[in-house]
Amino acid sequence: MKTIVVSNRKGGSAKTTTAVNIASGLAQYGSVLLLDLDTQGHASIGVGCEPSEELGVHSIFDGATLSETFIPTVHENLTLSPALIHFDVYEYADLRGILKNRFKREKIADFFDYCIIDTPPTFDALLKNSLEVADSVLIPFVPHHLGVVAVGQMLRALYQSAKSQGRELVNVSILPVMYNPHINEHKESVEKVKVSFGREKLLSPIGVDIKLAQQFESGSPIILADRRSKGMKDYKRCVLELQERL
Ligand SMILES: Nc1ncnc2c1ncn2[C@@H]1O[C@H](COP(=O)(O)OP(=O)(O)OP(=O)(O)O)[C@@H](O)[C@H]1O
Ligand SMILES: [Mg+2]
Repeated sequence: MKTIVVSNRKGGSAKTTTAVNIASGLAQYGSVLLLDLDTQGHASIGVGCEPSEELGVHSIFDGATLSETFIPTVHENLTLSPALIHFDVYEYADLRGILKNRFKREKIADFFDYCIIDTPPTFDALLKNSLEVADSVLIPFVPHHLGVVAVGQMLRALYQSAKSQGRELVNVSILPVMYNPHINEHKESVEKVKVSFGREKLLSPIGVDIKLAQQFESGSPIILADRRSKGMKDYKRCVLELQERL
């Protein structure tokens, strides 16, 4: 199983849109587990479910097994562990290693080909738990000055996290989102990311497509729902590029 953590501390940088679409895109190639670690529960909504008030992925921090939180989704190859909406990470003193422990004890890797984790826009224990199981981190960013700054901050946080775990930095991919090639600032920001952080990390951009926002109302990821849309084509290409890197 390959685990991809979708992360950026900057809010509104299309983490959830990316997590939902790559999860359903990868479900065309193998079985996928989507963990909605952001208590906003938007990834759960994106695959046609609801965040839970009783049992969700965050319940593992209160002793639940991960497997008992699984629910099926619109896609036969896509299983969701929904967000637990009232979970408050700050009520817990030490949450390190819990997700890693569940993966190991429940042999999650034997049941899925891919695990995609949507994370909150914070660098907290939820993100740290995700990084402990990550094979790869995908950083979506909006190509503006602060978007580029946020990518740099995220990369530094990843180096720190790898160091504290005594492991190598995981494979990192950077994905420009809501990209418009006619806006100079977008082109310049992508160029800056290339130069500052390495051309090899950069994936082809995802353009602006209102259907990517509308998909959350229908609860059907665009990659399944609208086979002709630009957003679908962009995320399909993204899935292929990610597979090459994995
Ligand atoms: N390529 C796109 N074109 C148009 N709208 C988009 C695109 N990608 C994302 N959006 C919209 O932008 C908004 C932010 O996206 P999203 O919720 O995925 O970001 P996020 O990083 O998960 O946010 P948060 O930090 O709150 O978790 C949403 O309304 C989403 O529908
Ligand atoms: Mg989100």
